[in-house]
Amino acid sequence: MKHIIKVSILAAASLGISTTANAQAVTNVWDGAYTEAQAVRGEPLYQQHCGACHGSQMQGIEEAPTLKQGAFIYNWDGMGVDILFQRLRETMPLDDPRGVPRRVKADILAFIMQQNNFPAGRTELPYQNSRLKRITWNALNPAEQ
Ligand code: HEC
Repeated sequence: MKHIIKVSILAAASLGISTTANAQAVTNVWDGAYTEAQAVRGEPLYQQHCGACHGSQMQGIEEAPTLKQGAFIYNWDGMGVDILFQRLRETMPLDDPRGVPRRVKADILAFIMQQNNFPAGRTELPYQNSRLKRITWNALNPAEQ
């Protein structure tokens, strides 16, 4: 009996720790909004579903714009990541937007974020709008402005 009580106190304590970690929530793309492993997963998925049009280095080809730096990161500046994600869900890949599932698109977006030098963190980029909208896409790091 004593043992069980001790275990549940420990469980509560570890819950307490994870609540504290959540309190330092990811509020923008500079806080570590995806994980390194997710970006690694996203790379071949990007090449498979997006690379033919946007380029293997995201440099852009003809009508398909670059997905790196400059105009791209400023296009979404100050918006919730859900807005960019919605754009991907509804319109990309241009030739088959419904053919690529949400989770795969989140992994691809993690890879795009890595290529734009946003830092990786401890929590994967989610694919649910309710969670994505709590993360702001800032072209520049607000902590350095
Ligand atoms: C068949 C070609 C094609 C494929 C495949 C494709 N795209 Fe695109 N994409 C385009 C074109 C063309 C545009 C610009 C015209 C438009 O916005 O519809 C564009 C625009 C975009 C934009 C807006 C860029 C900006 O500056 O805001 C994003 C983001 C994007 N694509 C992401 C993706 C991702 C991620 C994938 C893979 C899941 C993908 N695209 C696959 C052709 C493609």
